[in-house]
Amino acid sequence: MFKISPSILSADFSNLKGSIDEIKDYCEYIHIDVMDGVFVNNITIGIPVVKALKKHFSNIFDVHLMIVNPIKYIKEFAEAGSDIITFHYETGNVLQTINEIKKYNKKVGLSIKPGTDPKEIIEYLALVDLVLVMSVEPGFGGQKFMDNSLNKIKYLSELKKACNYSYEIEVDGGINAETSKLVKQAGVDVMVAGSFIFSAENKIETIIRLKE
Ligand code: DX5
Ligand code: ZN
Repeated sequence: MFKISPSILSADFSNLKGSIDEIKDYCEYIHIDVMDGVFVNNITIGIPVVKALKKHFSNIFDVHLMIVNPIKYIKEFAEAGSDIITFHYETGNVLQTINEIKKYNKKVGLSIKPGTDPKEIIEYLALVDLVLVMSVEPGFGGQKFMDNSLNKIKYLSELKKACNYSYEIEVDGGINAETSKLVKQAGVDVMVAGSFIFSAENKIETIIRLKE
């Protein structure tokens, strides 16, 4: 069974609690996209929103930081209720940031953008709980899936087996009924999906289908 992490970026922000209530019993994770307008060309939500939502939901909070200098904010995101804190390899200070997340006993996620080769992160793979392969340029929901992510997922999946690593492989961007089949074949564990779930007439059925 595959895990689903609905990205609330595509939820109705004027009724965020209600939107999550609708799906919370059908997904393991809730994906929260944090953007700073510097690492990516968009600004979304931050620490107070994580904190407010944590009071209402017991799902695993899968927080995706698309911000420069993530190490500066790990403590606050951890204390706000993040369970998995994923940051981008491209922001640098990778080892220090991994250790900072571990300091607060949170799960560590390491993400790579579409232009980054997974070979670049080999040295960190034994240390992380999740590897997030971006299948769109980070910044916006509703973009088209980039299929160069498939070989990266395969590579990470084979390496995981060969070296007995424990990280989950997560994919983010452009997941729908068709692309979900491809990433499953490639060896993914967790699928982030935003627009496909939240624009669906039947969100629950959409999640159940993705999981199969
Ligand atoms: C994009 C975000 C994604 C986004 C995915 O930078 O990281 O999580 O919400 O949206 P969809 O599923 O619509 O591509
Ligand atoms: Zn994301």
